[in-house]
Amino acid sequence: MRIGVFYLHKMTLSEEIQRRKTFGIIAHPDAGKTTLTEKLLLFGGAIQTAGAVKSNKIKKHTTSDFMEIERQRGISVATSVMGFEYKGVKINLLDTPGHEDFAEDTYRTLTAVDSVIMLIDCAKGVEPQTRKLLEVCRMRNTPVIVFINKLDREGKDPFDLLEEIEKELRIDLRPLSWPISMGKTFKGVYNLYEKSLTVFNPGEKATLDNSIEIKDLNDGTLDKLIGEDYAKTLRNDVELLEAGYPVFDKEEYLEAMVSPVFFGSAVNNFGVRELLDGFIEIAPAPRGRTTDIREINPDDKNFSGFVFKIHANLDPKHRDRIAFLRIVSGKFERNKNYFHVRENRGMKFSNPTAFMAQDKNVVDEAYPGDIIGLYDSSNFKIGDTLTEGEKMNFKGIPQFSPELFRYVVNKDPMKTKQLNKGLEQLTDEGVAQLFTKKTDNRKVLGTVGALQFEVIQHRLKSEYSASCSYESISLYKACWISCADKKKLADFIFDKAHHMATDKDGRPVFLAESAWALQMAEEKNPDIKFHFISEFKED
Ligand code: G4P
Repeated sequence: MRIGVFYLHKMTLSEEIQRRKTFGIIAHPDAGKTTLTEKLLLFGGAIQTAGAVKSNKIKKHTTSDFMEIERQRGISVATSVMGFEYKGVKINLLDTPGHEDFAEDTYRTLTAVDSVIMLIDCAKGVEPQTRKLLEVCRMRNTPVIVFINKLDREGKDPFDLLEEIEKELRIDLRPLSWPISMGKTFKGVYNLYEKSLTVFNPGEKATLDNSIEIKDLNDGTLDKLIGEDYAKTLRNDVELLEAGYPVFDKEEYLEAMVSPVFFGSAVNNFGVRELLDGFIEIAPAPRGRTTDIREINPDDKNFSGFVFKIHANLDPKHRDRIAFLRIVSGKFERNKNYFHVRENRGMKFSNPTAFMAQDKNVVDEAYPGDIIGLYDSSNFKIGDTLTEGEKMNFKGIPQFSPELFRYVVNKDPMKTKQLNKGLEQLTDEGVAQLFTKKTDNRKVLGTVGALQFEVIQHRLKSEYSASCSYESISLYKACWISCADKKKLADFIFDKAHHMATDKDGRPVFLAESAWALQMAEEKNPDIKFHFISEFKED
């Protein structure tokens, strides 16, 4: 006799994929990214108290920026990926460094998300980092939801703000919620989609269900709730919005053609629920990625994934690192043998880690859209692909032409081996790019931010016992070159030998001393192509 047999529904691969959303928040520092992250985690029940998410931004007033970075590295392992569940949806929020010197890290992280929330401070509008990060999203057609923050403060007129964002970022917006006044007289937001009103009571945190349905804006309840004048303004605003903005179309958003807009105040937890509800309804499920041989769909039976970030452990005695892998297709299983394509060999992972909010746990399986941490003793480089045996490489994780350069000078010849190893591994992590000059074999470091030079010097000393100093080199840009005619390419490399180097993969790189020198080289050599990102189609 069998009593009480319960059949637990085991989700299919496709169901697991459909219930996942992997995204990042992009913002200029101080727009409220840490605050919003925390509120989202609170809604997801992943944390219980405010203040649990540590800001990973580098405070301006610290005595030494790079010591602060060291401290922050500890924090940023914990906040690299924050997974949480909300209404049955598994959400993976990937953190991006706030400091602009680490912009490349952010660019790479954006290769692992399927959509982003772009945060804008209502008083500041579009800021430089917002602009740069949006460009990166545009390169990959990443769908963007806009959240306009800090409505509890005086800011720009919302109509002007929308116009500024549309013009400056060249995107089409569709407001889905609308603020009623702002600053001291901020009354709340009206949800244009659900036709409901959420009233703002300063000092009182918004709860999950404090919104009031107002299907008809002419309903007198509105006047009672926010006062006649504000009700009138809202009615006028909504009329203008309906006339000025086409109806929101989810498909257009998924194709990155339009961006829905929400308004709120993250610190007051206001408008965040609307944002999150809107997000889970429209944001894309995990998407496929392109490889050098074919498109990979998430529901391909075979597992595949790529490494987009490598994080060195903080313990200098152990040179272990964590490689962050985005799963693209199939199911990842612990202890199963996978194929490391670049190294052309099999690998097993006994302790793959999943990140749920602040906790790290060993996982037995993971699905497309998930990020897992793999303990790594220098086997991985950024961009590496893991498969079930197929020889293919994911694309779209380029390096960008660096803008700051220095010669590396070995200060301790007895430690040359350590120095080389350190430089090799730190540049594998993506801290900077390493070039070797063709004529004299001198090593040149290239970065996008000045802080990285200090970080490398400090980490070489503490993790590899090697010391280096820097010598200035006057360079404007390093760019990869290619040419359909191999003889012409060889001639160019020969002629420009003093300005040539190789990158870590042995590819030729032209070091331009000035914008003018680059322009001249381009004009005089029309067959040679100059590339500003490392990934390009070989002729
Ligand atoms: P970031 O990660 O994007 O750099 O920003 P973060 O969340 O650290 O927020 C930057 C500042 O803006 C913080 O103030 C934060 O409290 C404030 N803030 C965030 N959201 C809102 C909002 O909706 N309204 C208002 N008025 N302020 C907001 P801080 O003084 O720099 O830090 P703290 O001492 O308050 O933590």
